[in-house]
Amino acid sequence: MRALVMTEAGGSEHSHVLDVEAPEPGPGQVAIDVAHAGLNFVDVMARRGDGGYGAAWPHHPGKEVAGTVRALGAGVTHLAVGTPVVAATRAGGLAETAVADAVLTVPVPAGVPLEAAATVPLGLATTLLLLTDAGRFAPGESVLVHSAGGGIGTAVARLLPHLGGGRLLGTVGRPEKAAAALRHGYHAVHARGTDPADLAARLRAANDGRGIDLVLDPLGTAAVDLDLDLLAPGGRIVLFGNAGGGAPDPLPTLPRLLAANATLTGFSHNGLLTSAPAKVAAAIRRALDLLATGILDTPVTVLPGLSAVPAAHDLLATGQGEGKYVVAL
Ligand SMILES: NC(=O)c1ccc[n+]([C@@H]2O[C@H](COP(=O)([O-])OP(=O)(O)OC[C@H]3O[C@@H](n4cnc5c(N)ncnc54)[C@H](OP(=O)(O)O)[C@@H]3O)[C@@H](O)[C@H]2O)c1
Repeated sequence: MRALVMTEAGGSEHSHVLDVEAPEPGPGQVAIDVAHAGLNFVDVMARRGDGGYGAAWPHHPGKEVAGTVRALGAGVTHLAVGTPVVAATRAGGLAETAVADAVLTVPVPAGVPLEAAATVPLGLATTLLLLTDAGRFAPGESVLVHSAGGGIGTAVARLLPHLGGGRLLGTVGRPEKAAAALRHGYHAVHARGTDPADLAARLRAANDGRGIDLVLDPLGTAAVDLDLDLLAPGGRIVLFGNAGGGAPDPLPTLPRLLAANATLTGFSHNGLLTSAPAKVAAAIRRALDLLATGILDTPVTVLPGLSAVPAAHDLLATGQGEGKYVVAL
């Protein structure tokens, strides 16, 4: 089978589409013939060799797939060969065949196209869990999302109305990314720029001068001071990424957190795959059900094959991506 393989840390020059042996499912696992696979920033972090992400080389990227069950490992009884499914893969999803834990493999309801389904296991499931579980979003609250124009940022805009709706503010790294985020449903989007005080003033004004209830922040610790400045008393900040790579600065001091009455939460989809797989599977089911009813749509850019993936990873790596990318196998 053909698979994307990253041979060493660096850029797209080390990403190759290779013929490799198709993986077999072990006990409790499922092999899937992949129809579409989602691209995610975590694959870029692995490609860069970021600490905690760059696994041993060669690395087989890809953490979410949609396709049909090809083979069942020992002990798997709730799925059948040929069933359309999505799965959160530990790795190796950017390939013609992938293996996933059965507990993280969920049948796709009728009517959901596999290219949309491929955005669910990591992208939409993470977004749901960020808002509902880690972020404890309540209808009518205000939400600030950094990197609003990317895959997760777009998914927040699409999901929020189905969770009761609220005032949605975003930041982006470049001014030209604001228009797309606004089209997806953000009420106000500002480029981060170089003047945090000015950015804070613009975001506060965009929330009618009120504090923000929930901040979803994938920027390491670079924006935590800004987040705390903007937070409503009792507000929550969910830290869920380190897009810049490298060692993040220390978190603000205890007095600053106490004074802000802030809840600071960490979130890791990858961590939950091991510690709470049933929670991830429930989020996957919920997102698929929303897609099946037709009330949620998830716009995607479909890449025509694995050989197009390294260039798309380049776009993500340089902050030039827009929305969510999937690849057709
Ligand atoms: N914790 C988890 O379980 C989890 C799960 C999924 C995603 N995430 C995180 O959520 C974020 C969004 O993920 P995604 O897959 O949807 O990717 P994405 O938003 O489509 O792309 C990543 C974005 O990160 C921003 N960024 C900020 N600093 C950057 C830098 N130094 N280099 C490159 N990009 C930089 C860029 O947007 P702007 O320049 O506009 O900010 C870029 O477009 C990522 O940071 C990812 O690691 C975490």
